[in-house]
Amino acid sequence: YAQAVPVPTLVEQGVTKVPEAYVCFSDGFSGEVQDEERIPVIDLLDLESSHGRQRIVGEIERASREWGFFQVTSHGVSEETMEGIVRAALEFFGQPMEQRMELFSGEPKMNGTRYGTRLDETGVQDWRDFLVVGKCHPLSEETFETWPSNPPSFRSAALKYCQEIRALAFKVISLASESLGLRPDRLEREFDPLDQLLLFNRYLPCPQPDLVLGVRSHCDQGLLNILLIDDVPGLQMRKNEESPWVPISTNRRALVVNFGDQMQIATNKRYKSFEHRVLANPERARLSISSFFNPAVEATIKPLPEFVDADHPSRYRPVSFGEYVKVYMARRLRKGTPESLES
Ligand code: SIN
Ligand code: FE2
Repeated sequence: YAQAVPVPTLVEQGVTKVPEAYVCFSDGFSGEVQDEERIPVIDLLDLESSHGRQRIVGEIERASREWGFFQVTSHGVSEETMEGIVRAALEFFGQPMEQRMELFSGEPKMNGTRYGTRLDETGVQDWRDFLVVGKCHPLSEETFETWPSNPPSFRSAALKYCQEIRALAFKVISLASESLGLRPDRLEREFDPLDQLLLFNRYLPCPQPDLVLGVRSHCDQGLLNILLIDDVPGLQMRKNEESPWVPISTNRRALVVNFGDQMQIATNKRYKSFEHRVLANPERARLSISSFFNPAVEATIKPLPEFVDADHPSRYRPVSFGEYVKVYMARRLRKGTPESLES
């Protein structure tokens, strides 16, 4: 693959043909799309009443088993906080390319802040650029200093967003725990201290959208992701390789939750990490903000003993999360990664 010009530069130059390095589908992409089906919407409003909580736990159980993706409403992250992070992100991506490039790194980093235009040096490129803020929790003063300082509102907006999203993550994790028949704090204790990072994706309009992908099909590597998406369509998930792609959209106030590979491994495949991808758009720029919650790098990942017995032998051999990420990053087509650990 040729060294590719980054998407923002191509768009600035007004290219009408996408360079070969970005082409995933030479004749336009195929794949059936199911437009009527929707991921479940779960309202967390009644969480504090025991009757309400029980109903929500049931909804989480069904959604996790069938979809691995769901929307949440009444999630407790304030509109002001969501608007603040979106504004800061748009201002960041609105800076001239040379200013954004001050944070550029071509290397994947586990920690630290990085602006990137491609995920790796191999394979077809995604039609996007992105900003990673790799260390949102645990957070030291020193790490906070590595966060982007432009726009000037970035750090305070991101800090507020991270705190509110983290509270939601713990709500979801305790509900997931209960939905699996475990005590509410079981998963939280297993994954303590839960690392948190932010990934901002910017998808500029593409002149030949059906030849490329905004993000290639993959499963997320961590425990869970809480996703803020705007009203530009593009994100799709599917239940398996034979299933149609299901578009994922939300209203402005909702957030999308999806479980990653670590949920699949911890539950010995009771819950799964589902494949998803992002299409490019011919006219509109799209923004998404992922909050990833992951085990610590040195933590050992393996099925919880509660999900292993004579009828359900352990499907995964224990490895550190750091090792897992290396395997994951080495496979450019990341889908099905947990299977590579299957014993
Ligand atoms: C991703 O899951 O990798 C991207 C999600 C999105 O942009 O909606
Ligand atoms: Fe993802």
